[in-house]
Amino acid sequence: MADYQIAPSILSANFAKLGEEVDMVLAAGADIVHFDVMDNHYVPNLTIGPLVCEALRKHGVTAPIDVHLMVKPVDRIIPDFAKAGATYITFHPEASEHVDRTIGLIKESGCKAGLVFNPATPLDVLEYMLPKLDMVLLMSVNPGFGGQKFIPYVLDKARKVREMITAGGYNCRLEIDGGVGPANICEVAKAGVDTFVAGSAIFGAARDTDPHRYDTVVAAMRAELAKA
Ligand code: DX5
Ligand code: ZN
Repeated sequence: MADYQIAPSILSANFAKLGEEVDMVLAAGADIVHFDVMDNHYVPNLTIGPLVCEALRKHGVTAPIDVHLMVKPVDRIIPDFAKAGATYITFHPEASEHVDRTIGLIKESGCKAGLVFNPATPLDVLEYMLPKLDMVLLMSVNPGFGGQKFIPYVLDKARKVREMITAGGYNCRLEIDGGVGPANICEVAKAGVDTFVAGSAIFGAARDTDPHRYDTVVAAMRAELAKA
């Protein structure tokens, strides 16, 4: 079986209890913390920044933190996230004037670099950038909000990126973000994805009523992945 990783998006967590929420999803078997950064400019919503990332590290989170930047411009904030303990930093190519430079900046800061493609964004920049990347993130919703419906044509895009990664023999994760849950994760894995962001599917599960709610949903996702 492929090295599948589940990345809960804390966008849908209870922000008033964030440390506890992250501890609980990791204890439930999640692998990576997906950290959505929105600026009310590149996307029409506003979320969290480096201070919150640093607070999670100080709280004791040792799992990889996957910082998804939905901000424009990108470069100014990268060193701050590196200092705050980010593991991956991914950004949207449309949001940077100089994509190669931004990737270089992420790596010089000591983090792993990734590019994020909106549903309608073509994959052109991968022609030259893929060898430099640790992650490609495909959006399966339009960025800005949790709880949206999965856009099926992105599966075709996933198959294309998987072919490119395999053909080049690159060590690059293929992540998907938006509308993923137990009902479709198997199909998404079959399209070549190995890293699965899930916000509402995980944190929306019976919130505050069942102490094992995250264990149940993460286990359901793993069981589906075992069939892929
Ligand atoms: C959307 C964010 C996602 C979002 C996914 O812009 O990038 O990470 O939290 O949420 P769900 O899993 O609810 O679609
Ligand atoms: Zn995201």
